[in-house]
Amino acid sequence: MESCYHLLAIIVRSPGAQQVPAPGIPGRSKDAWGGQEGLLLESFLQEMKRYLGFTEVDARHLRELGPRMEKYFPELAERFYAQIRQHPHAFRVIAGGEAEIARLKQTLQQWARGLFSGVYDERYAGDRSQIGYRHVRVGLEQKYVISAMGIVRSYFSNCLLLEFPASDERLRYAHSLGKMLDLDLNLMCESYMHATVQNLRALNEQLERANRELAEASRIKDEFLAHTSHELRTPLNSILGFSKLILDGLCKSREEEQELLRDVFSSAQHLLGIVNDILDITRIEANQMILHLEDVNPRQVLDSTLPLVAVQAASKGLELHDLSARRPLPSVRADEVRLRQVLLNLLSNAVKFTSRGSVTVRAGVTGTDGVAPSRRAFLRFEVEDTGIGIPLEKREEVFHNFVQVDNSQTRRYGGSGLGLAISRRLVEMMGGAIGLDSGSQGRGTLVWFTIPVVPEAQQESSAAARRPRATATDRR
Ligand code: HEM
Repeated sequence: MESCYHLLAIIVRSPGAQQVPAPGIPGRSKDAWGGQEGLLLESFLQEMKRYLGFTEVDARHLRELGPRMEKYFPELAERFYAQIRQHPHAFRVIAGGEAEIARLKQTLQQWARGLFSGVYDERYAGDRSQIGYRHVRVGLEQKYVISAMGIVRSYFSNCLLLEFPASDERLRYAHSLGKMLDLDLNLMCESYMHATVQNLRALNEQLERANRELAEASRIKDEFLAHTSHELRTPLNSILGFSKLILDGLCKSREEEQELLRDVFSSAQHLLGIVNDILDITRIEANQMILHLEDVNPRQVLDSTLPLVAVQAASKGLELHDLSARRPLPSVRADEVRLRQVLLNLLSNAVKFTSRGSVTVRAGVTGTDGVAPSRRAFLRFEVEDTGIGIPLEKREEVFHNFVQVDNSQTRRYGGSGLGLAISRRLVEMMGGAIGLDSGSQGRGTLVWFTIPVVPEAQQESSAAARRPRATATDRR
């Protein structure tokens, strides 16, 4: 065991050491023990031979013994498994019942034949450690291999008693055979050590990964909190400041008071928007956002959303185009409220970040979700502006929580910085995708998203289903 620890130290310290093959990987020693590990195994074999005092004389003794022992192998196999199978653990490990035991008896004889081969080189060591791996793989604990070797050992002692009545001759062979069995046991158990090291390494990597993820999650949460408190404090301060001015009677006229009240109102609205965004993203991240998917008429969603940004666009002198206005659009499978939320978010972003030019909406059917071709049809919405645009390297980032192209923009343009993150999650929950491109004129931004179209048959049936229900409502 001490030597196993020594080997463990070599493996752990060796910087260039390759991973040993996964326990139980079938294949012979040469492939499995190539490179650095092959060298480790070779030095382990030499070390064990020295430790056990295994010499060429022992190898010669075993070569001599081989022909005389051959006849005992079938009985060895019988006795071995007769004893092993008493143990409930054996049933767990030997899954294939009688047929497998019959096969195992053959492999045990094969193994025993190897003991007397007389050649104990690196290849031999590799084969033995592979046998160990097979046991690791089937879940045989190391202690059972060690004990089972005792069965072999005592059986062979009896064989030697029968073969060599003269005690000095018997002792000579028994001594060499004993060393050989120890060598084999060490080589088999060595696989357990390798497997343990491998498992520990994998566990370590897993832990390190989990640690990194935790640290990142904690950093994101800290950032989230810092942003949240800042974003909430800004409009709150305005509300408190302006209302205090009014309460203290510091307004010189009713008009001034009205103006401050309007500021209080818009700050409160802004605050509500941020709180809603924070609640949404928190719910989404806690997997508590439940969508109600139904057949939705996208025309109605567009028509009810565009007026919400029309006033703001007009006040900035921006043109607002709906290029899908005259096209028939198929029903989509979506949560109507959330679809409107996504569209409104993209439209208000476009208006917010555009100071001159236009904002254009398009919608059309496509055979891809925007990322990969699909057998389903999707409705692709596009919102294009002629605004400041988003650099290529920032296009993925803006879909993360609290990210605007640069943080100074949060100050300048307001908003929680959560809109695109929420939109992405909502679109994905509805089965679509979302992305960013440059505007078609090479300036501005084009944000697109896709929503699955209701399959044609479904559309017909849902249209049919809608009709009688409308009649029933009319009658009431
Ligand atoms: C000195 C002890 C043992 C020796 C020398 C030995 C030998 C072997 C050999 C040579 C193989 C074939 C490996 C291969 O094809 O690569 C094998 C496989 C196997 N042995 Fe053992 N064995 C021992 C102990 C045990 C014990 C105690 C059990 C069960 C309780 C066991 C269960 C198995 C099983 C289930 C397999 C098949 C593994 C597979 O399908 O991958 N062995 N054993």
